[in-house]
Amino acid sequence: MKSSTVSIFHSLRFRLIASVVTIEVVMLSLLVWNNISIIHATHTDRLRDTATSMIQQIANTSGAYMVAVDYASLEGYLANIMDYRELSYLAVMDRNRETVLALGSAPRSAWPEADVHPGQVDDGIYDVAREIRVAGQPMGHILMGFSLARMEEAIEKSRVRGVSIAAAEIFLTVVVTVLIGLGLTRRLATLSQAAQEVQRGNYSVAVPTASKDELGRMATAFNRMVGEIAKRTQQREEAEAKTSRLLAENRQLIQTSLTVQEEERRHLARELHDELGQCITAIQADAESIRDLSRGKDERIVTRSGAILDVSRRIYEVVHSMMQRLRPGILDDLGLVEALRDEISAWQERHPDIDCSYNVSGAFAGAGERVNITIYRIVQECLTNIAKYARASHVTVDLIGHDGRLLLVIADDGRGMDLSGPRSGLGLIGMRERVEALGGEIRLEAATGRGLKVRISVPMERSDPEAA
Ligand SMILES: Nc1ncnc2c1ncn2[C@@H]1O[C@H](COP(=O)(O)OP(=O)(O)OP(=O)(O)O)[C@@H](O)[C@H]1O
Ligand SMILES: [Mg+2]
Repeated sequence: MKSSTVSIFHSLRFRLIASVVTIEVVMLSLLVWNNISIIHATHTDRLRDTATSMIQQIANTSGAYMVAVDYASLEGYLANIMDYRELSYLAVMDRNRETVLALGSAPRSAWPEADVHPGQVDDGIYDVAREIRVAGQPMGHILMGFSLARMEEAIEKSRVRGVSIAAAEIFLTVVVTVLIGLGLTRRLATLSQAAQEVQRGNYSVAVPTASKDELGRMATAFNRMVGEIAKRTQQREEAEAKTSRLLAENRQLIQTSLTVQEEERRHLARELHDELGQCITAIQADAESIRDLSRGKDERIVTRSGAILDVSRRIYEVVHSMMQRLRPGILDDLGLVEALRDEISAWQERHPDIDCSYNVSGAFAGAGERVNITIYRIVQECLTNIAKYARASHVTVDLIGHDGRLLLVIADDGRGMDLSGPRSGLGLIGMRERVEALGGEIRLEAATGRGLKVRISVPMERSDPEAA
């Protein structure tokens, strides 16, 4: 089964992973940043509180040593305090701001300004200062510096831990999403491939329906739908086969009836010629001999026999014209072009109010009897229809022999017709059948009020002389 490839940006799996990873990265970054801010605030607040209480304690205790000017004991006391790990330096100044004692690493400036809060320190040392008072009298100052290195170390550790946890979570999420996405897209791909098979007309496909989730339900519905399509397609194919069989039978019937009609016309023409023609000839011969025998004896008999001759001549003309219409012998005698000219001029005489022009061009030597009789019958049918329905004032009949094909165009300027509407007669249907039996084409062009144009094209060489 060939599956069409989906571009990566349209892939459901890619979109799923990209969305989840983006959300994860944003949310986890916020979380890590928030944690670090809280840790920072907690540590700085704790350092400030520690520094405040320590310097207060030291200022209180150092007062007594300052009064006694016992700097050695003061140094011993302060040396113990220097054990505090965050403490960077500790200095004591007397009333004249002279340094009496300095422990730890000296500050960068002579004696720095005190900082407001450890969170706002920019040199890495939180400097605090306090006045030493004894009985309300100023004795000097205590200066202390607390290193922020330990606090920053702790914050850095939390940051590393937070980022590691976030990275692990993103990794796990991606793995789980990829696995879920793979499972989903694999099942969707099975559905999509099955749908493509159905599109190609293969209705025997079925997708697995074992799982009970939404995709499983969708697969069940898909299988049911394919079953329904298969059933309906089969019904439609059966109906189409039946219709085309009926159409073929119908065609066969029309062909047969056209052949029988032509046979019957041929038979009638022969009967008229052989029987009626003989009788009229006999009547004419008898009337002539009666007229000759009675000449000079009884003028009334001469007149009557002359009248019989006139009537029988008229009957002969009518019968001859009927024979022509039934079996145009003129086709055999003069060929299609002249037979049509004869038929058209006879029609023109019967309809003097319609102007009919006949134009011929090209060669028709290859056209056989079957083509000739077909074209002749079509012209007859078209002219009859024009006389019956068109109310036309001009008609043109063009006969063109070109490139082994015979083209016939009959156009009138009458009221036209609606080609999409239902039709009751057999004339136009018979025309189509006759033309298609010759391997030709017929086209009708009509618009209400603008006449009807019938175009016919048949190959001349496919004519079959025995069939007409
Ligand atoms: N030249 C035309 N102008 C206007 N309407 C026409 C023309 N030719 C045919 N029609 C219309 O087409 C219909 C079908 O014509 P068709 O020749 O098939 O049947 P018919 O003439 O009614 O019957 P039949 O030919 O079997 O005696 C006609 O009833 C008529 O309404
Ligand atoms: Mg007709």
